[in-house]
Amino acid sequence: MSELITGIGELHTVDPARGADSVLRDAAVVVENGLIAWMGRASEAPAADRAVDVEGRAALPGWVDSHTHLVFAGDRGEEFAARMAGEAYAAGGIGVTTNATREASDETLRGLVAGRVRDAVAGGTTYLETKTGYGLDVEQELRAAKIAAGAADEVTFLGAHLVPEGVDADEYVETVCGPMLEAVTPYVQWADVFCERGAFNPEQSRRVLEACRDAGLGLRVHGNQIGPGEGVSLAVELGAASVDHCNFLSDEDVAALAGSDTVATVLPACDLSTRAPLAPARELLDAGATAAIASNCNPGTSYTTSMNFCVATAVLQMKLTVDEAIRAATLGGAKALRRDVSTPGRPAVGHLAVGTRADLHVLDAPQAVHLAYRPGMPLTWGVWRAGRREI
Ligand code: NIG
Repeated sequence: MSELITGIGELHTVDPARGADSVLRDAAVVVENGLIAWMGRASEAPAADRAVDVEGRAALPGWVDSHTHLVFAGDRGEEFAARMAGEAYAAGGIGVTTNATREASDETLRGLVAGRVRDAVAGGTTYLETKTGYGLDVEQELRAAKIAAGAADEVTFLGAHLVPEGVDADEYVETVCGPMLEAVTPYVQWADVFCERGAFNPEQSRRVLEACRDAGLGLRVHGNQIGPGEGVSLAVELGAASVDHCNFLSDEDVAALAGSDTVATVLPACDLSTRAPLAPARELLDAGATAAIASNCNPGTSYTTSMNFCVATAVLQMKLTVDEAIRAATLGGAKALRRDVSTPGRPAVGHLAVGTRADLHVLDAPQAVHLAYRPGMPLTWGVWRAGRREI
């Protein structure tokens, strides 16, 4: 079955091959077998098995949310309230969620994760990564990896999220690099480490990343969130696909990112929710780095899957243009997951061109600028995920 989506007032293709001309007016798209089969002027569109007219609305690629922590139970509303009353965020809260997650049954946890993915898709997200990291022992990390693999497009092993209470840090690192890594490897594509004061120091982070790389996993790093540190330089040195948070960057960090293939992933909702200095997304782009925007949905620092909100914040607070923010939340996320280029059997995501995955987000607005112009409004009107209409 082919489907013609026509009457698109403004189509943001975010296609790097189109350069500065990547927005089409009065456009249409034909979707077939989960892929974009045709794209161009509505007046020139071929016939299809069925058609939908979006009546002048703006459309863009679905959001690629490259950083979430969806496998958790419980919430930390009291910790959030204390933060709004002046407390600082510290990594220790991860232990609270670990306890609640360990207590939840498989069925409960699966239901919670599925609900969060549904919410994300309802907000325009069509490709999504999620992580382990609230299990913190072999059995619980394995359970989290299996549940994540059943719900998300890409899964990251984050056994090195926090050293569990009462466990020696170096012994825990050896467990992460040994039996835990071995158990989760069949279910994950990526490995990550929280390289930060209160979590894992640079030597421990390096040990985890090298072991995971040797096991065939791609690398990502949580770095420079709470203070300056070596997360960014370690990520760049080891060729990580992404370093996420990036709140406290030196000039050298910015230059290193600009000169590398490591994507700087900024997390605007997290920055607001922790009252952290905003990640310097403007400076990163000006220096020539590739930036991604992600939700970082988790119960401690960013309890939202709303990419519309993150994009609005990136424009209003981080001083990105609307086009830059859209690019970072689509193609940027795809680059952070190394999914921006089609390979046999794996169509690219994060931009729209013939042959890419048909992931489309139609806004209830004539122009994409409304994402920032009308923040907080219900702007997601239609969502196609791999060619299937979800909303
Ligand atoms: O990305 N920074 C580390 N991990 C999460 C927060 C985890 C938590 O506090 O539960 C993040 O912000």
